[in-house]
Amino acid sequence: MAGPQVAVSILNADLSRLADTVQEIAAAGADSIQVDVMDGHFVPNLALGPQVCTAVAAHTTLPVEVHLMVERPQQFLGAFAEAGATYLIGHIEAIDDLTEFAEAVRKLGKRAGFAINPETPPDRLIPHLAQADLIVVMGIHPGAGGQTFMPSTLATLRRLRAARSGPRPALQLDGGVNDGTVQQIVEAGAGAVIGGSFVFRHRQGVAAAIAELKRA
Ligand code: DX5
Repeated sequence: MAGPQVAVSILNADLSRLADTVQEIAAAGADSIQVDVMDGHFVPNLALGPQVCTAVAAHTTLPVEVHLMVERPQQFLGAFAEAGATYLIGHIEAIDDLTEFAEAVRKLGKRAGFAINPETPPDRLIPHLAQADLIVVMGIHPGAGGQTFMPSTLATLRRLRAARSGPRPALQLDGGVNDGTVQQIVEAGAGAVIGGSFVFRHRQGVAAAIAELKRA
């Protein structure tokens, strides 16, 4: 069984070397790059505006996933589409009309993603699976990297896998992914995982970390 796709989140990268880091991640076999956007309201942290997305997209041909951890994600779709995003991912906790959100993303020629927090029951999301290209199941409370994986989120992953009528949308788990958690995450249904602090703190470096996650 092929291992998971690995999207590397640059939130925990050395942003003073962003261009080199992006190229290193791509050369190391990452499947995509995730830009974590935070507004200090939906999550208690601020991070990464459209300019950073532009800088990332300028240095890679990998898909760029923009994870909007913001209160009104619709208002940022145009700016990040302009900035080179491939996927525009909003949190279902912050989106009133999921159909409208997905349509707005498609109108911009981008792929739509829905993210779901650990405490959110997946029932509201399930009727909208067919409208998404990607579902991001949070393995931690969003707002920071380096947190401990919450095994309770595996139930959401299993529920979404069971509710899908085929291999689409892709199911990605984001948060707390490392060599000790990736196996159970993949077995619960994640076809993709986010490499965050595990990738940037790995003793043997980025390529070894990505290879380790892909072996799951
Ligand atoms: C947190 C971000 C995650 C985080 C992952 O809000 O969405 O992508 O950076 O970092 P780790 O893998 O260290 O949990």
